[in-house]
This record gives sequence, C-alpha cells and structure tokens, in this order.
Amino acid sequence: MTIREAINKGAIELKVKNIDSPKLKARLLMQFILNETRQYLVVYDKKQITQQQEENYFKAINKLTKGIPIQHITHSQEFMKLNFYVDNNVLIPRQDTEILVEEVIKIAKKINAKKILDLCTGSGAIAISLAKMIENSQITATDISREALKIAQLNSRKNEVENQIIFVLSNLFEDLGKEKYDIIVANPPYIKRKIIKTLDKQVQKEPIIALDGGIDGLDFYRKIIHQSYEFLKYKGYLCLEIGYDQKDEVIELINNEKKYIKTYSKKDLYDNDRIVITKLGD
Ligand SMILES: C[S@@+](CC[C@H](N)C(=O)[O-])C[C@H]1O[C@@H](n2cnc3c(N)ncnc32)[C@H](O)[C@@H]1O
Repeated sequence: MTIREAINKGAIELKVKNIDSPKLKARLLMQFILNETRQYLVVYDKKQITQQQEENYFKAINKLTKGIPIQHITHSQEFMKLNFYVDNNVLIPRQDTEILVEEVIKIAKKINAKKILDLCTGSGAIAISLAKMIENSQITATDISREALKIAQLNSRKNEVENQIIFVLSNLFEDLGKEKYDIIVANPPYIKRKIIKTLDKQVQKEPIIALDGGIDGLDFYRKIIHQSYEFLKYKGYLCLEIGYDQKDEVIELINNEKKYIKTYSKKDLYDNDRIVITKLGD
C-alpha cells in the first residue's frame, strides 16, 4: 500500500465513525508512524509503506475511531509554539489557554514580575511557556497529581527551562510555604460535574480531576479567589481561565472578597469569555 492509499483509507474509516477532521488526523497519524514531515508525505505519496508500518498505522486509526485523542497516540501537543509531551495523566493543553498566557506575559512585563505561581499546572503548559517568555522569571508550579507533575517536569526539561521552575505536589496552596508572588495564574478544573458525561468522547478520555469543577463548576474559583490574597504581593495579579459562561459568577466571587480591584475579562478567538484578571489592592 502507498502512503497516499493508506491515508485515504484511514480518512474514510475516521469519517465513517464521525471523527472530526478525518483527513487531517489521517495525515498526522501517518507523519507520526513514519516519523516524517508533512512535506515528505506530499513528495513521496506514491512510496510503498512496509507491512509493519501499515499495521501500526491502522492500529492507530482504530484507536482514534474509539475516541482516543490523537495527542494520546502521538504523545505531543503544540502550545505557544512549544512542544509538550502529553498522555492520559494530563489535560491536553488547549489553544484557548494561550489567551491567558499572553495576558500574563503582558502583565509581567508591565510590572516587572519575577515570581509567578501556576496553580493546577497539569502538563506544565502555562508555567513552561511563561518561563520561556519572561526573562529571569522564577515560576512555582503545583498540581495535586503526582503523575501530572512528573510530566510537567519532563516538559520543563524538554523545553530547557527546568532551572526556572520549582514543582510542588500540593492541593492548591496547602504545601506552598510562606512565599508571596507577583502573579498567580490558574487554569483549574471548571466543568460542572453533571456535564462531564455529555462531553465529546475524546474529552472524556482526559483525567477527571482535570475537568471536575464540582456541582456548579466553581469549586476551585471559590478556593483560589479566597486564598490568593495571602499569597500575592500587594498589587499582585490573579489571572484565571474560565468557562465561557462563568464570567459573571467568577467576578461576583472576586467582588465578594472585597480585596481585589480593577477586575476585567477578555474573550477568546471564538468570542467566548475566557479569562478574568484582578489585582490585590484597596
Ligand atoms: C484544567 S487542568 C489544567 C492543566 C494546565 N494548567 C493547562 O492549562 O493545560 C487542571 C489541573 O488541575 C489539577 N488539580 C485538580 N485538583 C487539584 C487540586 N486540588 N490542587 C492542585 N491541582 C489540582 C489537575 O490534576 C489538572 O492537572
């Protein structure tokens, strides 16, 4: 079978099972199996693949038809133009979260922030991108999952920022000590518990502790907003990713604390409310 024939057959199998972007995924899987670039596939599309490659390719196609995310097969996801190892212990970093990282970089440059805390770090996508893009920054990254932290550490080595990040196994702030930060950033679990069952098959293959925000989806915001002021320097910033329908509730939680000022939100590329930023002050 040639490369082109295999990709076409793979794409049809994906389409029949209603997997989105079948052509793209069939091609990406072939790149992964052959360990070659997109250009290679275009130039050598009539090249025969070996029987072993064909077998591996259609095994991977079969996994995709069962709802396994392509990133769990290729073990990679791009975020902020960096490459991250991912598996089923971490949330696959989302493009939406780049809005949060870009805003934090802007704030960090404005206030010359050096100490940043990334709560709920998962794959380390946020912490590592910040370490890479903010000069001389010292990042602390926490997660309650030992497996996730191991992956975040691996990603910090992969992206050569391991010296800038301290990883702490911690239930939110619990094991953090007394240090104060210029910025606290978090993309916590924020899906309403009941909704999780109704999400795409692929999303359901991601760790439940990365998704479950409690009955109303706001459990983590309540805790983070209530505790952050103890860990922020005066005039430090709290930067949160939110679900598309959580802006008003999260801003209400912030206002109820009466410790934060200058709260604002921003939308993502699809015009959904995506981040809320606030500042410790009076
Ligand atoms: C939505 S994921 C975000 C991952 C990553 N920051 C990102 O943006 O791609 C949430 C993360 O919170 C972690 N988590 C869940 N409960 C936690 C807790 N009580 N304390 C710290 N981290 C927690 C999960 O293990 C998961 O890695």
